[in-house]
Amino acid sequence: MTVVRFYYGEQIPLEMHKTRIVQKLDLIPVEQRLEAITMAGNNTFLLKNRDVFLDMLTDSGVNAMSDQQLAAMMVADDSYAGSETFFRVEKKIKEIFDKEYFLPAHQGRACENILANAYVKPGSIVPMNYHFTTTKAHIVLRGGTVEEVLCDEGLKVTSDHPFKGNVDLDKLRNLFEQYGAERIPFVRMEAGTNLIGGQPFSLDNLRAVRRLCDEYGVMLVLDASLLADNLYFIKEREAAYRGLSIPEITRMIADCSDIIYFSARKLGCARGGGLCTNSYEAYNAMREFVTLYEGFLTYGGMSVREMEALAVGLEETMDEAMISQGPQFIAYMVDELQEQGIPVVTPAGGLGCHLDAGRFVEHIPQSQYPAGALAVALYIVSGVRGMERGTLSEARDETGQEKLADMELVRLALPRRVFTLSQVKYTIDRILWLYENRKLIEGLTFVEEPTVLRFFFGRLQPVSDWQSKLVAKFKEDFGGGL
Ligand SMILES: Cc1ncc(COP(=O)(O)O)c(C=O)c1O
Repeated sequence: MTVVRFYYGEQIPLEMHKTRIVQKLDLIPVEQRLEAITMAGNNTFLLKNRDVFLDMLTDSGVNAMSDQQLAAMMVADDSYAGSETFFRVEKKIKEIFDKEYFLPAHQGRACENILANAYVKPGSIVPMNYHFTTTKAHIVLRGGTVEEVLCDEGLKVTSDHPFKGNVDLDKLRNLFEQYGAERIPFVRMEAGTNLIGGQPFSLDNLRAVRRLCDEYGVMLVLDASLLADNLYFIKEREAAYRGLSIPEITRMIADCSDIIYFSARKLGCARGGGLCTNSYEAYNAMREFVTLYEGFLTYGGMSVREMEALAVGLEETMDEAMISQGPQFIAYMVDELQEQGIPVVTPAGGLGCHLDAGRFVEHIPQSQYPAGALAVALYIVSGVRGMERGTLSEARDETGQEKLADMELVRLALPRRVFTLSQVKYTIDRILWLYENRKLIEGLTFVEEPTVLRFFFGRLQPVSDWQSKLVAKFKEDFGGGL
């Protein structure tokens, strides 16, 4: 990916790949979109993909694969134990991360389950730059507590801080002082911090966290699911490391980490996950949970075809042209929206463009899920499916009280190499229209509220008939149903 300036002035991100396999899309009329989201309980997770025009729910498992990945899938070695495919992935992990032991798992949260089983017990404290939904759920399930030690800038929606995913070292030291290594099994650093808008940590910050962990004798675990974006930002924004290659930066990050785990649905553009380490002790502590929950040690619940694709995908992640595609498209979208006065998370991060629902629909109280309502409204007026990342994505506390989210965001993920610039421009246009008509949007309330990870399959309804008013205004302005 490269950014080019046109002769007549516009500056756009230019794809360094061509499309050779395509999938047909449909844009159903606005009344049908209203019907579809109503059937889906006003939860974008519950929409049928056939009713979605542009699926910006997530990048997970939906990044475009390369021809090399597809070709590699053809030579997968299907055997329960000792598959050649496993040894190829293990070799690639060793080459890229310099880690001796590799444990495959069926996806990222499976790695979190394994980690939590091996290391978290009642009373454990797990510090991290910021939580991720599934990570926190696994830690809490085993009686542990997540403590966020994010730098203050990380929670400022609008900022020019290049590394909002950084840890505040004083906060971390205080936790170490308060609980000591006995209560703290590991510190978790999340690359491309998902829930705060795909924001990176700096390599200097990671190295400082490592030094602090060494001082107190605590393990450092890296969640590398969104490492590709973080690598790009270190290269782009951290002057001290600009001269290094992507593989060199990767190795420096890996050297700071005792255990690395990742969702291969994100990192490596395949489907699966894995953990790696140089510590035989850690490998030994975790491997029984692979055989218990995932599968035998040489496939861990992954299809061998996906494992082949992962090996190639990891290699391709070391290519700057490949990893820059996502962040540059996202930066384009964020810049265009910001120029038009739309509240978005800045600076542009990885993973997707994040609308700040807290300001977009500031008239909706957090108890009525403004980000959920905005995601629903955007689907109705565009067929674009985004994801709520706000209070709905939180869990209630022990007393049943809502935990109000730090930020109310709607994430519009741009899976790697999937969308064209005209599709991004269409999305921007419909967001602009929605912003002008934002006062028509009102809140949501639960009809069916699951107790665990409620955002995945909870069902909601609008607090009034605001959705039909939105549809009427849309038809008036666009002279039809699309
Ligand atoms: C940072 C991070 N960690 C863990 C996970 C969980 O991975 P998976 O969806 O493969 O279970 C995700 C998924 O979005 C993620 O973004």
